[in-house]
Amino acid sequence: MLKRYKILTVSHRKTSLKELGGFVMENGEENTLKDQLSEIKSRFGFNELFYMATCNRVMYLWDSEKDFSTEEIHSLFQYSNKKLTNEKISENVIFLEGVHALNHLFEVAASIDSMVVGEREILRQLRDAYGLCKEWGLTGDHLRLAFKHTVQTAKLVYAKTRIGEKPVSVVSLAIKTMLQKQVPVDARILLVGAGQTNGLAAKFLKKHKFTDVTIFNRSLDKAERLASMLSGTALPLSNLEEYRRGFDVMITCTGTTESWIDNDLYSKLLNKEEGQKLIIDLAIPNNISTEVIENFDVDYIEIDALKNLAEKNKAFRTKEVFAAREILIKELRDFGSHFQERQIEKAMHSVPTEIKAIKQHAMNQVFKKELDGLDDNARDLMERMLTYMEKQCISIPMKAAKKAVM
Ligand SMILES: NC(=O)c1ccc[n+]([C@@H]2O[C@H](COP(=O)([O-])OP(=O)(O)OC[C@H]3O[C@@H](n4cnc5c(N)ncnc54)[C@H](OP(=O)(O)O)[C@@H]3O)[C@@H](O)[C@H]2O)c1
Repeated sequence: MLKRYKILTVSHRKTSLKELGGFVMENGEENTLKDQLSEIKSRFGFNELFYMATCNRVMYLWDSEKDFSTEEIHSLFQYSNKKLTNEKISENVIFLEGVHALNHLFEVAASIDSMVVGEREILRQLRDAYGLCKEWGLTGDHLRLAFKHTVQTAKLVYAKTRIGEKPVSVVSLAIKTMLQKQVPVDARILLVGAGQTNGLAAKFLKKHKFTDVTIFNRSLDKAERLASMLSGTALPLSNLEEYRRGFDVMITCTGTTESWIDNDLYSKLLNKEEGQKLIIDLAIPNNISTEVIENFDVDYIEIDALKNLAEKNKAFRTKEVFAAREILIKELRDFGSHFQERQIEKAMHSVPTEIKAIKQHAMNQVFKKELDGLDDNARDLMERMLTYMEKQCISIPMKAAKKAVM
């Protein structure tokens, strides 16, 4: 019965992220994507269809009683991207059906299949993609049931295991360390570099409401972008040497090939201030030279230590996968019964109306003459008896069917 659920997927498991882009539906702007998916749905005779593309997976999930051939797999992906060859499709695409498809969906939602195990973002992406497909009229009752159970299962996994605990990104660990050191929100923070890494650090600083951030970068426009997000100040990197406002925390991450913040530059930045400074150095090689660490009072956190911690936390999350899988096995079983019950409910949908019609037919046609011959009390009693029978009869097949499923 569950064989009707089918998945085609390309993910980071088998495919490099660069190659994966080639499997995303081409020209996927909102309206066009809707039309393309509707076309796929009717071309391949799917009853219902769901599609999702993230940076590390592309997934088609559909409902259909019909088998799906290798030729159809090729044809579907070639419809989505003409450049894809049969060979490339066969190498990268995974086809799953029935319990295997549902298990995969559950694993994706519970972030067991993620590049970084335990990242809940995928659940939001799944829900958003489902919402869109539903809005576009692509989904129906079978996918609704599957998604309801998927979300429920993922929530159970996040609540009952520790899969999503402990940060695994170097930047979030850096900021966590800073918070553990109880750096006040009005501390003077220098953000040196405005690339991807410090861009992410800036987001965390905003989240934790730090109010005094100065950003230095070689290209001023990037520093300005971060400064406007943080209501901070943007300055060119060439001005760092003349900066005399002092600082409490320095987060540095520039892609330079040498440790360029030396004794001389550092003492200028200190501007004769005393007391320990917190330095978070996310660059490889480190931006801060070893002489600074040796000669000044610094609490120095560098990327290697954070990377080690991130690896430990990843290993911790991975251990939780075992517990998560146990939940998935139970939930898959429950889904099977739930699915069958729902099919019976739908099949039984017309039973009350049909029984009511039989009762009306009996009273108004078959036994009409006899009923007309009865006095009011007797007729009232007959009607009440028939109504009682009607109600009892409605529940019998439903109960029997449910018992058969259990
Ligand atoms: N934290 C992590 O998880 C992680 C992981 C891998 C690597 N890294 C290290 O982080 C550093 C940068 O990473 P990113 O992700 O932020 O890279 P990114 O997005 O490419 O940004 C590079 C940053 O460094 C600046 N920069 C590059 N070359 C420079 C130079 N010669 N002089 C002055 N500034 C220069 C860039 O300034 P412009 O904007 O002017 O170009 C930009 O601010 C590298 O050392 C990299 O090895 C960090």
